Amino acid sequence: MLISLDHVTKTYRGNDQPVVAVNDVSVEVAAGEFVAVVGPSGCGKTTLLLVAGGLLGPDSGEVQIDLQDPYALSADQRARFRAERIGFVFQQFHLVPYLSVLDNVLAPALVTGERDAADRALALIDRFGLSDRRNHRPGQLSTGERQRVALARALLNDPRVILADEPTGNLDGENSEDVLQALQTFANDGGAVLLVTHDPDAVAFAGRTVTLDNGQVAMQTGQEKVASD
Ligand SMILES: Nc1ncnc2c1ncn2[C@@H]1O[C@H](COP(=O)(O)OP(=O)(O)OP(=O)(O)O)[C@@H](O)[C@H]1O
Ligand SMILES: [Mg+2]
Repeated sequence: MLISLDHVTKTYRGNDQPVVAVNDVSVEVAAGEFVAVVGPSGCGKTTLLLVAGGLLGPDSGEVQIDLQDPYALSADQRARFRAERIGFVFQQFHLVPYLSVLDNVLAPALVTGERDAADRALALIDRFGLSDRRNHRPGQLSTGERQRVALARALLNDPRVILADEPTGNLDGENSEDVLQALQTFANDGGAVLLVTHDPDAVAFAGRTVTLDNGQVAMQTGQEKVASD
């Protein structure tokens, strides 16, 4: 299993009222699977993705990415583990505004200290049709181009897992299709995709859908559920 969340609970504290954002959720994503996470605003989707990605430790429950518990690692080891195994794609892209397209795509290689990632970065930039934009800064790109840069960055270190939070939320139909197709290809090549979305087109790409409600799994539909019935 490439992504395994086992009875994970995460509570935000520090305000007057603690918020149980994720409440006893178990989700598994195998190699080759593309799983969508849906549910109403505030139901815990982003929190679940952050916990899965080694960015937010759970209160209880087990997290494993590629058979490793990221929270069992030191902070430095965890940062490296994330850079090597996990690609993140966000709705707002999170590109570095003062870096070129090429340097944004190369950012994960800074974490691993690799020196010769430039060829791979250029190949990804080419694959996503951005070769003549490689010296542009993010502010000089269209929205769809920015999301393709974010995808190229997510793929740079050849991760095992992609965690995507509303990656098509700001895109039109054609650009959405490109992003979803790239995620599909990643899964078909043996990766695992966990995709948070409100977009029915994105849900249609997924082999399985997990519906969250108020921090809990309300429903799972798709191949694995059918297979295990
Ligand atoms: N840093 C935080 N501190 C306190 N509460 C938080 C924090 N982040 C999120 N929450 C609360 O946790 C719950 C889950 O938030 P989360 O961002 O995971 O929801 P979501 O399903 O991603 O929503 P959306 O679809 O609007 O992005 C919400 O009730 C939210 O108010
Ligand atoms: Mg969210």
